Amino acid sequence: MIAVASEKGGVGKTTIATNLAVYLKALCEDLPVTIASFDNHFSVDQMFALGPRPEHSIAGLLEDVPPAELAVLGQYGVQYMASSRRLQPPSHAPGWMRQRLHSTELPGILILDTRPILDWFTEAALLAADLVLVPVKDRAALVNAGALRQILASVDRTTRLWLLPSLVDTRAKLNAEVRVHEFLTYAARERDYQVLDICISKSPKVESLASGFSSRIRPVLTHARNTAVHSQLKQLAEFVLSRFDAESKLLNCRHTGLIPDVFPGMPVGHRHRLILECPFCCRQSLSEGGHFYFDLRSRRRGFIHAACFEKVYGDLGLDDDSHGLVALTIDGPGLVGPECRLAVHLFDTDGGLLNSEEIELKGRKPLVDLLSMMTGQSLDESYREFILVNRVAQSADDQLAEGAYRRFSSHRRQVARELRQAGLF
Ligand SMILES: Nc1ncnc2c1ncn2[C@@H]1O[C@H](COP(=O)(O)OP(=O)(O)O)[C@@H](O)[C@H]1O
Ligand SMILES: [Mg+2]
Repeated sequence: MIAVASEKGGVGKTTIATNLAVYLKALCEDLPVTIASFDNHFSVDQMFALGPRPEHSIAGLLEDVPPAELAVLGQYGVQYMASSRRLQPPSHAPGWMRQRLHSTELPGILILDTRPILDWFTEAALLAADLVLVPVKDRAALVNAGALRQILASVDRTTRLWLLPSLVDTRAKLNAEVRVHEFLTYAARERDYQVLDICISKSPKVESLASGFSSRIRPVLTHARNTAVHSQLKQLAEFVLSRFDAESKLLNCRHTGLIPDVFPGMPVGHRHRLILECPFCCRQSLSEGGHFYFDLRSRRRGFIHAACFEKVYGDLGLDDDSHGLVALTIDGPGLVGPECRLAVHLFDTDGGLLNSEEIELKGRKPLVDLLSMMTGQSLDESYREFILVNRVAQSADDQLAEGAYRRFSSHRRQVARELRQAGLF
């Protein structure tokens, strides 16, 4: 998932997002590529629409429209979701979008174009993305990138963000020696940003593709091949493909059937509840294992990387060297409401209760986000939740082997029983 984002308008987001889709498809014919925009300007439709207007639009992402009906095949072999004029943010936290997109199981690459403001949708796209491209054309855009980086920092994912110098007049000079885009790159790197070596030049020909009287927007690939932007977009697509190859190696287990065959200890009915990604960093966690967790209400289970768990858990300042089981319980009409409570209960490795503490959630966004990812819903809506985490980090093979898996289930029942008896849940 790729988000193209910037709080500034007119920096080339939509041009880059739409053309990137075309170039990816051109370089890699077999790779499914889908594009969608949270903006309401219909540029995506103007470039990709083919045939009658699809029944559903991107608004369907926020509803329960089945995945196969969301995206339709468009021009240049690219799938697209029709744009929508009125998108209303749902009540879930923006982090919910990543799960929704994963649940659609769209194959290949999804490109999300965003609005020039940092609203719910842009934040959702940032949190969903494996790669965030931020076009910057001047110093102001660079300063603006700070807000995007902050959102990614809150979930420890700043390494996904790449600045892309855009609409650059490669001849413009700051003074006799320094070109503007070189200065921009220098200033960005000094602020610790990753900057692509590629830049997208300003080209009147490219600009003309989206203006004029035609209701269609033409791609650079087909209508501006003799510009510098053509080879720049090709390089950008190659950069994306190299990242995609690396990521998909990790994700391959979903397609090669790793889950059904490799974990015989897990009853078949449980396998589809197995979440493949770490609920904290959203990267693959099944291959590395970590702390196994289980959410009672949704019956979701999976692994949180040991380091990711420590980041959140270590912050709570609990006196805990037990390395047994941790039960997280949520009580009350909704976590962020005035009367809800999160309690952390520590158990020894045999499921004996050691200690319980209530945790203040205000100002703990990473914890709140983690809990919503584990439970699969926004905490605003959660009423009663029970999540059990095995603090012994294990490989998936070990944790999901028959004996270990059964032991965890029996501990889970025992822990729930103890908490009930102690009046704690
Ligand atoms: N490389 C480019 N050279 C010249 N004009 C461009 C280039 N990329 C985009 N434009 C023009 O700049 C304007 C803003 O581009 P757009 O992609 O819509 O930006 P954003 O989505 O960030 O608002 C549009 O008129 C577009 O045609
Ligand atoms: Mg745009």
